[in-house]
Amino acid sequence: MPLASRHLLGLRGVPKEDIQQILDSAASFREVLERPIKKVPTLQGKTIVNLFYESSTRTRISFDLAERRLSADVVHFTSDSSSVKKGETLRDTARNLEAMKIDMIVVRHSAAGAAKFLSDVVKANVVNAGDGAHEHPTQALLDMYTLREKFNSLEGLRVCILGDILHSRVARSNIHGLLTMGAKVSVCGPRTLIPRDIGEMGVEVYTDVDEAIRDVDAVNVLRIQHERMERAYFPSIREYHRVFGLTAERLAKAKPHTVVLHPGPINRDVELSADVADGERSLILRQVLNGVAVRMAVLYLIGTGS
Ligand code: CP
Repeated sequence: MPLASRHLLGLRGVPKEDIQQILDSAASFREVLERPIKKVPTLQGKTIVNLFYESSTRTRISFDLAERRLSADVVHFTSDSSSVKKGETLRDTARNLEAMKIDMIVVRHSAAGAAKFLSDVVKANVVNAGDGAHEHPTQALLDMYTLREKFNSLEGLRVCILGDILHSRVARSNIHGLLTMGAKVSVCGPRTLIPRDIGEMGVEVYTDVDEAIRDVDAVNVLRIQHERMERAYFPSIREYHRVFGLTAERLAKAKPHTVVLHPGPINRDVELSADVADGERSLILRQVLNGVAVRMAVLYLIGTGS
């Protein structure tokens, strides 16, 4: 069955069947990634532009690898080395790229709504690789894939998202996706970094980490997004780590099976202790591995209209 939308702009409103289909397709592509020749001809003849207006390591390289593994032709655009520097708008940039007969655009931008804007002005399929503090759907999909791989199902799974919720597109996409898949979601962080109306999304809200993680199956730890902050939201980094950092001591009070996720990049010994990041309960590098397969699945399903 084709997905409900020809773009992936966010996970809000995406039907459960579509998320299920993406995760199931990703499982097939995970097998491809274990082969000696990690390549399939699925998107041969398609041209994809990775339009990145914000810095990225994982998402940009993961999309790049996913596209090449699907045999697409890949073009990279970074705003720093483009005519954006001369004042060219997002709309003009996209329409000029489209004039060169591209089929898909993967976009990362600091403005919330940039991916939706692009989908309104170009005919190409648009995949959101993170737009401001709005959504980062492929990150949430790879987080859900990693949790499903570990626990077999997302139904009834208890997930706590810990950290800077206010500025996090990862939090928003995870909340939409996990709730759709039947998980129970809570958020925890300083009151100043939790949106006032977040409860209306259907999540429980905590400001005490020990209480928040006591009964959960997974903790998804988020970075403090200094780049989106215009003022101080907590007294100091040291204080933040003391009160909200996920340490081995804190994790020891959670259930023995509780796992730890982080979208990266990690600020070690700020939101997450280095020993937890590298410890047995950490699924962080598994998330990165699964990210390539999940992005292959998204590109395949959207790019072929399957
Ligand atoms: N998780 C994530 O989006 O990382 P990058 O900013 O490195 O792409």
